Amino acid sequence: MAYRDFLEPDQIPSKTDPSGRGAGRTVDTRLVGGDMALRRANGHPSNISGEWLYDPIFKDEDLAELKAWCSPDDPRPLVVEIGFQRARFARAFCLENPGVRYMGFEVRKKFCEDASEYLVAGGVDNARLALVDARQALPELVPPGTLDTLLAFFPDPWWKKRHMKKRLVSRDFAAESADLLKIGGKLIVKTDVEGYADWAEEEMRAEPRFEVTRLEDPAAGLPPTQRERRCAIHGRPTWAMVAIRRT
Ligand SMILES: C[S@@+](CC[C@H](N)C(=O)[O-])C[C@H]1O[C@@H](n2cnc3c(N)ncnc32)[C@H](O)[C@@H]1O
Repeated sequence: MAYRDFLEPDQIPSKTDPSGRGAGRTVDTRLVGGDMALRRANGHPSNISGEWLYDPIFKDEDLAELKAWCSPDDPRPLVVEIGFQRARFARAFCLENPGVRYMGFEVRKKFCEDASEYLVAGGVDNARLALVDARQALPELVPPGTLDTLLAFFPDPWWKKRHMKKRLVSRDFAAESADLLKIGGKLIVKTDVEGYADWAEEEMRAEPRFEVTRLEDPAAGLPPTQRERRCAIHGRPTWAMVAIRRT
């Protein structure tokens, strides 16, 4: 359900449009951005339901609630996770950090509904989940320069060369992330694919507003995701990179 799949070629935002936020960036690899109105016009309502679970594309009231949740007027730090899937990280993190606002994005309905139940069962009330492509939703929900932390844990590796343009992490993604983050804010990427770690680090380093470090502790001092737990059980290595938004 990629963002591009809902667009006709002539609807794709122009990379030469000097007014667009993605101006000058490669359209194919532009991963944060897009127009939710186009998704609305071409997609189907989801009929999802769940506590703390929102459908910002097809429900205007959900979009409004999420905008309020992500508003910079709220003094609590805002932490965004792209692809929360089983919400193992989300639940542990929110319980450990009751003073933060967590905002999670996931494109698969079943994961959203299961995650919602899992958070409710854990007594979490500082998380909001959205069934939406983070690339479409982030620019709508998070004003530039207001995000504290952006998390992309174990993004799909897209192994084949012709599919690599679908990888979440790219230099356009790094640029869009830098737009959203506060000075001192962090983008943290974890992966269990060494080639992806090298790729991600290089793409993040291409963004001049980022100071990028490969972490010695691949857990990054954070609770594990489902995939990370599996890696630990099977003795598979993982890698983590952090990019700090500097002036
Ligand atoms: C390989 S899984 C990793 C799941 C989880 N982070 C973990 O570590 O266990 C990647 C997840 O990201 C979701 N995803 C991929 N692209 C996304 C996007 N643009 N916005 C929101 N979710 C996305 C997929 O549906 C999938 O559940």
